[in-house]
Amino acid sequence: MTRLLYPDGRIELERGTIESSMEAVGARLRLKQLPGEPGLAALLDAPVLDQTGQDALLGAIDAHLDEWLPIEGQTGHDLVVFHENLPDLAELRRKFLAFHSHVDDEVRYIVAGTGYFGFVASDDSQFLLEVGAGDLLNVPRGAEHWFTLGADSRLKAVRYFGSISQWTALPSSRKINPALLTLAGIE
Ligand SMILES: [Fe+2]
Repeated sequence: MTRLLYPDGRIELERGTIESSMEAVGARLRLKQLPGEPGLAALLDAPVLDQTGQDALLGAIDAHLDEWLPIEGQTGHDLVVFHENLPDLAELRRKFLAFHSHVDDEVRYIVAGTGYFGFVASDDSQFLLEVGAGDLLNVPRGAEHWFTLGADSRLKAVRYFGSISQWTALPSSRKINPALLTLAGIE
């Protein structure tokens, strides 16, 4: 489910308001649901995909997003599949769970599962964007944010790269509001 979560407990569910709130911090959120084809649904539902499955899923997504691609400045893309049995899951979670920024836009198309992006509003307050299947999020270069997986650690997403074809973060000293960690199910 796509929601905005605030430290005071407020929750925003209205799509238009959510997208406007993301625009206010320079980010762009759009909804592009994948079609409910049986073959695609099976790939999306499988917690783990071998390379053949990942290639098939990415190919199907590429075909579906034809009219949207190439995303401006894109130099490459890949599919990431997070699940509870990933050997380096704890390390990955730690890596994302700190404010950082990137030299390129961070573009993510969520196709299955749940994730949380933390942002800083213009008044320095913080909020969470919960993303789900169909959300295409563009976090602008330089914008401070953090990320965590949902409680079950299952997420499939396509990462679109700009000038740097890997996840490279510039750390920030800003501390995450603890209330948001609780809302994201972390503490
Ligand atoms: Fe990031």
